[in-house]
Amino acid sequence: PAPGWTATTDVVVVGSGVAGLTVALNVRKAGLRAMVVTKAMLDDGSTRWAQGGIAAALGDGDTPDQHLDDTLVAGAGLCDEDAVRTLVTEGPGAVRRLIGVGAAFDQDADGAILLTREGGHHRRRIAHAGGDATGAEISRALVAAVRSDPGIELIEHALVLDLLTDADGHAAGLTLHVMGEGQRDGVGAVRARAVVLATGGMGQVFSATTNPPVSTGDGVALALRAGAEVTDLEFVQFHPTVLWLGPEAEGQQPLVSEAVRGEGAHLVDADGTRFMLGQHELAELAPRDIVAKAITLQMQARDAEHMYLDGRHFGAAMWEERFPTILASCRSHGIDPVTDLIPIAPAAHYASGGVRTDLSGRTTVPGLYACGEVACTGVHGANRLASNSLLEGLVFAERIAADLTARDAAGDLPERSVDVAAARAAEPAPLLAPEARAEIQRLMSRGAGVLRSASSMAATAAGLAALGRDAAAYLDEGKPADPRVETWEAANLHLVATALVAAAARREETRGCHWREDFPEREDAGWRRHLVTTLGADGS
Ligand code: SIN
Repeated sequence: PAPGWTATTDVVVVGSGVAGLTVALNVRKAGLRAMVVTKAMLDDGSTRWAQGGIAAALGDGDTPDQHLDDTLVAGAGLCDEDAVRTLVTEGPGAVRRLIGVGAAFDQDADGAILLTREGGHHRRRIAHAGGDATGAEISRALVAAVRSDPGIELIEHALVLDLLTDADGHAAGLTLHVMGEGQRDGVGAVRARAVVLATGGMGQVFSATTNPPVSTGDGVALALRAGAEVTDLEFVQFHPTVLWLGPEAEGQQPLVSEAVRGEGAHLVDADGTRFMLGQHELAELAPRDIVAKAITLQMQARDAEHMYLDGRHFGAAMWEERFPTILASCRSHGIDPVTDLIPIAPAAHYASGGVRTDLSGRTTVPGLYACGEVACTGVHGANRLASNSLLEGLVFAERIAADLTARDAAGDLPERSVDVAAARAAEPAPLLAPEARAEIQRLMSRGAGVLRSASSMAATAAGLAALGRDAAAYLDEGKPADPRVETWEAANLHLVATALVAAAARREETRGCHWREDFPEREDAGWRRHLVTTLGADGS
């Protein structure tokens, strides 16, 4: 349908996690109007689920250079060193500014920020809040700040559809489908001078994930449809320690933070033997890809569905004080970490790739920016270092706001002219039936999960193609497209899953979190490069 309503702002931000809200708050400092649109409620994204914390060289003796080294090692040869240097250098200041916005991190009796360790970090470098509820505290503080600024307009329950561009191909706004009551109900359009994607990840393309249900790759799908370059899609990070709730468990699964290992918990097999010893100098605190692979290999060797995390030696007081969220979540599933081994298995966690940006968050489409998990700034390479993601969202959101502010001051951010009425004349992609979501997830977990091969991915690609043909045939029969959140999400999941499998099939090597059974070695000669995905004009 054509847009039934139109709104106007200076900068429209899609998504309300740490990245999106930080952009909105920072462009306001320059007097620009901001609008934040978000698919569910303001705090429904991934940020509030982050447990372990936010990494920054804040501790005595730590330096940005050491943080840089750990990030580059985890990234397995594919990090953009300039982007990492930017992240680690600007990170400590960005965390302090976040504290200035109101986020309260755990401190010692002298008021110094407490720091923990996680996989791949050679130092205590992870600031945390509420023990293991860091993201919830960051989200609380940012949402409160955004809500108290009347210059930021908020639209919740707003599913982003597509980018609007002007005659020069510059971003000029968005179309949205708002499923609320009142003035902004239904399909509408927002005119803006710049558009910022901060829509988070795509963990819901897999059956078991730590991501909330809203993480359906909407931003990457929009960017692909808009002609933007997307890169590194094959590097999906599987978190090693996700509470194992049985073979049929689907959707968002409870995370057991790496910080639990950072404080000394061990990975053990059913006999209680630590299997990470001797595999890596950091043992349980090796980079995440190495730990996830080791767990998967143990599971294969023993024909087991999970391994275990042992934190019984912490004692009840430490569990209650340091990991209250995880303790409650385990207990709600009948597991008491004080007395029981915790069953864990890897599950999809983080998209290291995404919409390609430069150091100012600019994508390859003029006026379209991206930050946070939806973006690929180059800081993660083939495998993100633990707790670098909240930091990346923060640092690059600030940089986007700085770029927009500078452009505005230079007269380089004019109003854009766009024919809103024509915006939704054509459906850009067939919408899929909501039931397709579970099928996409099964296909992806079966063929493109932790361990992949050409044949497993070919089967997944064939299944995805069949789903796409069904959807197109449905429309060809003249049946209605049925636009609503579930059908759009299924279409977006289908598009990003198809692109992800294509990239993963092209990369014939094992690197970082991309693990090929048929190409088990890292091949720097041919593959130390990025794979870029774009959607052809015909949607292929
Ligand atoms: C965790 O707490 O283990 C998650 C940290 C991260 O994904 O960066």
